Amino acid sequence: MFRLKDVKFKDILDIKDTNIKKNEVTAIIGKSGSGKTTILRLLNKMTSPDSGSIYFKEEDIKNLDSIELRRKVQMLSQFPIIFKGNIRDNLNIGLKFMDENPKSDEELSKVLNKVHLNKSLDENSKNLSGGEKQRLCIGRIVLSNPEVFLFDEPSSSLDEDTEKIIIDSLVNHIRSCDKTLVFVTHSLDMAYEYADTILEIVNKDLKERRNEK
Ligand SMILES: Nc1ncnc2c1ncn2[C@@H]1O[C@H](COP(=O)(O)OP(=O)(O)OP(=O)(O)O)[C@@H](O)[C@H]1O
Ligand SMILES: [Mg+2]
Repeated sequence: MFRLKDVKFKDILDIKDTNIKKNEVTAIIGKSGSGKTTILRLLNKMTSPDSGSIYFKEEDIKNLDSIELRRKVQMLSQFPIIFKGNIRDNLNIGLKFMDENPKSDEELSKVLNKVHLNKSLDENSKNLSGGEKQRLCIGRIVLSNPEVFLFDEPSSSLDEDTEKIIIDSLVNHIRSCDKTLVFVTHSLDMAYEYADTILEIVNKDLKERRNEK
């Protein structure tokens, strides 16, 4: 799905040649500040490398329109972005960004179920807890149906159980709909529990391990 070839970014990353496979779950691990978030941002062109090339389905992303790319490759940030209004508004706003029509309450409720968010669509989003906000953001992205999900580990304010629930719901979705997920985590346990491939940042490069579990 992606190939990173001779990718350099500041004195932080120097990735020789790494592939990220389609329809797989890939975990990126590494110390704080080692460049995990930067790698996700490189994959949907929020950040550009200083040199080298990144390919999305064999095409150099330099030649792809950023907006088009970000519709296909969507990132969930470390900090959930919540808009004013209720849960319904917050789910539909993702579709609005895609120039698509809002969905029916029935469809929105299905998505809430999928991300294990047991709340009414009329509930004000600002009342949600940190973990619930994360799940709402996942619901928003699931609705807009990208090919690739990039998921940065939730901010440290979330406990590990909540993080697990979030990753669990995303991984189930990815597996059932043949999507691709790249997620960042500081937890080796999480990586081994959910990923097919683990990429570890070592000496600015990515070291690949297959998860044989
Ligand atoms: N645009 C930029 N210009 C210069 N340095 C940057 C830029 N973006 C990120 N960095 C630096 O790159 C390093 C890696 O940042 P990044 O956010 O990718 O790390 P991380 O592995 O995600 O860390 P954490 O686990 O704490 O989230 C940091 O030292 C950061 O300050
Ligand atoms: Mg980070």
